[in-house]
Amino acid sequence: MTGRPAALRRDMGLLDATGVGLGAIIGAGLLVVTGVAAGVAGPALLLSLLLAAAAAACNALSSAQLAARYPRSGGTYEYGYLLLNPWLGFAAGWMFLVSKLAAGGVVALGFAEYLAALAPGIPARPAAVGAVLVLTVLNYFGIRRTGRVNLVIVTVSLAALLYFVAAGLPSLQIGHFTPFAPEGGEGILRAAALLFFAYTGYARVATLGEDVHDPERTIPRAILASLGIATLLYVSVATVALGAVGAPALARTGSPLEEAAASFGVLGAGLAIAVGGVSAMLGVLLSQILGISRAMLAMARRSDLPPFLGHVDSRHAVPGRDVVLTGCLIAVLALTGPLERILSAASFSILVYYAITNMAALRLTGTDRRYPRVISVAGLFLCITLCLALEPGTILTGSVLVTAGFAYRGVFRWVRSRPADPSQ
Ligand code: ALA
Repeated sequence: MTGRPAALRRDMGLLDATGVGLGAIIGAGLLVVTGVAAGVAGPALLLSLLLAAAAAACNALSSAQLAARYPRSGGTYEYGYLLLNPWLGFAAGWMFLVSKLAAGGVVALGFAEYLAALAPGIPARPAAVGAVLVLTVLNYFGIRRTGRVNLVIVTVSLAALLYFVAAGLPSLQIGHFTPFAPEGGEGILRAAALLFFAYTGYARVATLGEDVHDPERTIPRAILASLGIATLLYVSVATVALGAVGAPALARTGSPLEEAAASFGVLGAGLAIAVGGVSAMLGVLLSQILGISRAMLAMARRSDLPPFLGHVDSRHAVPGRDVVLTGCLIAVLALTGPLERILSAASFSILVYYAITNMAALRLTGTDRRYPRVISVAGLFLCITLCLALEPGTILTGSVLVTAGFAYRGVFRWVRSRPADPSQ
């Protein structure tokens, strides 16, 4: 025994890291939120998807150059601390936890929606909780096994979605694209703010700084690869789904791609998308538990969370306590949360998180700056614009969550800084 704290094992390469990116990205955003966005923007959700992709691309480039400069677990939480100030760093970490825990609840419930197509007798909420518990155990037993399971999940999801596109192309009807933008620009912006959720997950790669080989090269390449593949896939899948059944039909259901696949009249299309949906949601949940636990670890190491969460388990080389706590919190949300409200909380907090990412990237100088400043300026502008496009009630709830985080940090640090009672 050396007495040093256990370190994470660097056993992931570019393929594993891109797989973690895709596993974290493709999930409820495409399989569930596309339906919500169809109700908000109509067929113009295709423009919303492109706008959200543009925001995600700017954010990804900001994340990539930050990750190359600071290849450590923690993502924008670290960058905020190092380049901005502790309160903004904390806000990023807090928003990351809020958004990813909320997203975990959305994805677990989305998983249950698609599972119901495969096994109609299974009740939704217990199924969602069961999935969270199984994936928590997988995460607990180490990154190597988690990386391999993730690659299998991503392969199945991609195959199912590509089959969906191929099987649905002949069903495309041009009439389903009119009226194209029934809610105008406002609907397009609001749908983009919700659909941004669909692209999130690439920052998960940036939190793998202590898990991958050669992080300076591997992390930026894996982020851009996973984001590019996701964008192509989303636009193709949404075009086919809209063209097959139209926006109103997609908006009416919690499993819109299954609704579209059922209309194709192609053998196995409905089954394939149900299997792909279940697999994609499992992939996202797996990555989310991993990412949230690493963010908790980074925050606890800086005393922004209780110190017992700053422990890496030497047997499995994972932050086991953080993994277990993450699984429990997501399970509680999946059991109790109303889906729309959790989705709104996730959308708001993730946009605030990336606004801080772009602010941190704007502080990079010299050779640390790999891309022009205008990219981070555009990312910041898009994050703020999309955030403001959300419903006023969502903005209010999100602001309360930010304030609660600051209050928690202030009280927690005040309690820790008080001198011990000499009489004890
Ligand atoms: N991007 C992830 C999803 O769509 C959060 O499920």
